[in-house]
Amino acid sequence: MPPLVKDGWPIGSARLFAEDPIAFCEKYIPQMGGVFQIKSIFFLVIREFEYVVLVTDPDMVKHIMVDNNRNYVKSYAYRVLKVLLGEGLLTSEGDFWRKQRRLLQPGFHRDRLATFVQIMTQAGQELVDKWSALPKGTEVDVSTSMMEMTLNIVCRAMFSSDVRDAMEVVNREFDLANENLINRVTNPFPLPYWLPAPSVKREKEGYNAIKNVVADIIEKRRSSKEKYDDLLAMLMEVEDADTGEKMSNKQIQDEVITIFLAGHETTAVALTWMMHCLEENPEVEEKLAEEEKRVLNGGTPVLDDLRELEYTRMVIDETLRLYPPAWIIGRHTLAEDQLGEYRIPNNTNCLIPVYYIHRDPKNWDEPLKFIPERFNKENSKGRHKFAYFPFGGGPRLCIGNNFALMEMQLIAPMLVRAFKLRKPKGFEFKKEPLVTMRPSPHMKMVLTSR
Ligand code: HEM
Repeated sequence: MPPLVKDGWPIGSARLFAEDPIAFCEKYIPQMGGVFQIKSIFFLVIREFEYVVLVTDPDMVKHIMVDNNRNYVKSYAYRVLKVLLGEGLLTSEGDFWRKQRRLLQPGFHRDRLATFVQIMTQAGQELVDKWSALPKGTEVDVSTSMMEMTLNIVCRAMFSSDVRDAMEVVNREFDLANENLINRVTNPFPLPYWLPAPSVKREKEGYNAIKNVVADIIEKRRSSKEKYDDLLAMLMEVEDADTGEKMSNKQIQDEVITIFLAGHETTAVALTWMMHCLEENPEVEEKLAEEEKRVLNGGTPVLDDLRELEYTRMVIDETLRLYPPAWIIGRHTLAEDQLGEYRIPNNTNCLIPVYYIHRDPKNWDEPLKFIPERFNKENSKGRHKFAYFPFGGGPRLCIGNNFALMEMQLIAPMLVRAFKLRKPKGFEFKKEPLVTMRPSPHMKMVLTSR
């Protein structure tokens, strides 16, 4: 078995990890190596598993996510998400997941994504117009603005026009759902759903509000005679190649909520971190503005521009390296396995801290510096696939990776050419690793024009 972190008496080292996972990784990974165990007296009783290992060695991560992926299912945390996401792509498993992935994949094909370019640039322009109307020197909540914009984009891509109800409810309920779900993952004694406590009642109401608004939209669409060309239409029409079967309303609902939740906060958080990185690195901000001038010169970006916006893409990659929104990935063994020299028993939860691997000095020179040029062709040669994997890897690779990259590459130059964003004097924040890793409190910035 891999070595064990023995600190954290009497509960065990898992408590130290749960309290501050980032500090834990920074302290113990350099001492303990590429795979090691943490323990809690609660694991066996409460969590349906016996062992927990942290895995940071890129070869071992590849073994789990690619080479021997059939020996692993998603970890405990994803099972907690099922209360909201049901059997959607992020949380389902096995043959059922494989069938769903085949059905949904064409909706995220590059040709299909091209039809979303206009939705994305329109939402970007709406944000630029909103901020431009404010007096210079106004403090804006960047986290909230990015969240509203990306939610707007995913709603329009999903539902074309009938989006207002869904946007309002998801906006209102999402933060609370996020907090409740992470509490259920980290708290060894979460209140059971059957308990008639006001907090549990409120929690369930939040999940139900999101489910109901999506169910209503699906119902309405079923009875509509209009023709739509959006993701919902794709989900309703697509047929299983073997059986000719279409998806049930419940399955469509699970996929819609999954895409909503997996798709908007991650991208919003990435854009928010990008604004932080640009402020910290004004020379990068200048280069980005120069590229905008050369390629777009103030025009609205179109699909063909993406190839030319090379530096913008490198800035996105470097942001996702230092601040991966999906900061941790978890898997669970179905049978005993071997990671390097260690035996990993059945019933082991494997935690893969993407955040740390992206900053591990074993994988990166000057890991804490923001250097977009790491991602040019020359410097990317020979890099281990699992030294940099903000979208995961193997069969469970993020289905929305190109959607997100396109969205960020279209919107970043529109923002950079209009504003310089600077944090208010004395503004302090920390990284908050919830379902995604985001700045806390919300990132506030002062608008100055370029
Ligand atoms: C910067 C933005 C994003 C990041 C960092 C991100 C990250 C990830 C990661 C790491 C996974 C794999 C999780 C695992 O292996 O356990 C994943 C899966 C997934 N993502 Fe994303 N994602 C982003 C944007 C999106 C968008 C825009 C969508 C949809 C429009 C989306 C939909 C999904 C879905 C449905 C899955 C599950 C795929 C499957 O298991 O088949 N994501 N994402």
